[in-house]
Amino acid sequence: MNSNHISAFHSDNTAGASPAIAQAMIDACNGLELPYGGDQYSHSVEQQLCDIFETKVSVFLVPTGTAANCLSLACMTPPWGAVLCHPESHVNNDECGAPEFFTSGAKLISVSGDNSKIDPQALAQQAQIKRGDVHSVQASCVSISQATESGSIYSLTEIKAISAVCEAHNLALHMDGARFANALVSLACTPAEMTWKAGVKALSFGATKNGALGVDAIVLFDQSLAQELAFRRKRSGHLISKMRLFSAQMQAYLSDDLWLHNAQHANAMASRLQQGLSDISGVSMLGKTESNILFCKLPDDYIQGLLDLGFGFYHDRWGKGIIRLVTSFAHQAEQIDCFIDATRQLAVDNK
Ligand SMILES: Cc1ncc(COP(=O)(O)O)c(C=O)c1O
Repeated sequence: MNSNHISAFHSDNTAGASPAIAQAMIDACNGLELPYGGDQYSHSVEQQLCDIFETKVSVFLVPTGTAANCLSLACMTPPWGAVLCHPESHVNNDECGAPEFFTSGAKLISVSGDNSKIDPQALAQQAQIKRGDVHSVQASCVSISQATESGSIYSLTEIKAISAVCEAHNLALHMDGARFANALVSLACTPAEMTWKAGVKALSFGATKNGALGVDAIVLFDQSLAQELAFRRKRSGHLISKMRLFSAQMQAYLSDDLWLHNAQHANAMASRLQQGLSDISGVSMLGKTESNILFCKLPDDYIQGLLDLGFGFYHDRWGKGIIRLVTSFAHQAEQIDCFIDATRQLAVDNK
């Protein structure tokens, strides 16, 4: 084991940024440009996203995925409404009440399903509860994560099944695509097929986890939401004055298929990890590895041994012995192999 390759697997945010994106931001520091999105980079990003999604889209760049999710949800949900989402979703667990705050008090209602994916039948049942009853919040919007927080992916058929329920019950469909690219390359479909052609009305299109320094886009397929979104973005303090520095990042991210290459690499690193770990005595893989996140169960001695060696990962948030490993565009094969070798050695030592 080469100790130079000991690395962190807490999140894809442990990675910095792709050099081409960092360079693009530095280059954009030159010259004078209109502020607040009136610049040439912002115009070009909107056109790039129209081309990528093969339709007219409205684009709103924001600095975080939480802002992308919550501003989108606020445009789709009145204060007396409800957002239906999976219990394990980021909006439900990891946004510190921001969805409720941004929607002026709408309620999040969880709808379960296997592998962190909403079950369409459970969704249809939930959508009908207390409809029209003035004493109860009204289901208004559904939010699905693609890829999900556990790394699973909705197939196109599964997205369409959710969107059929939305259609039947007059619910808007939002997709949290913080890991959109990882899901896309895994499904090997087009961005259009995974979104508006399957009924998605608003998308949080992540770039930060996959190579940008810090920029995500709200992509609206439903143009009727655009005006409200523009005001909400400003009102919440997310309309960036020097927008060109954010747009330049997104422009570079979308150029030369960098976003797809980065996601392919991150996914390939996760599958290398999965393959290497799966035959080590004492290690059980939990679920399939479909994107760049994997979960496995290890004896406590292995976990402590890996932490003592300097590897980083979350291990205290799920059941006993369960760890999560997240790979990124920046992880190198040597770092993956180093983790596998160390785990294998711990298995030998603990025999
Ligand atoms: C599924 C999902 N959505 C959204 C986010 C966005 O988070 P942030 O506001 O930290 O950029 C994350 C980050 O972990 C995530 O995993």
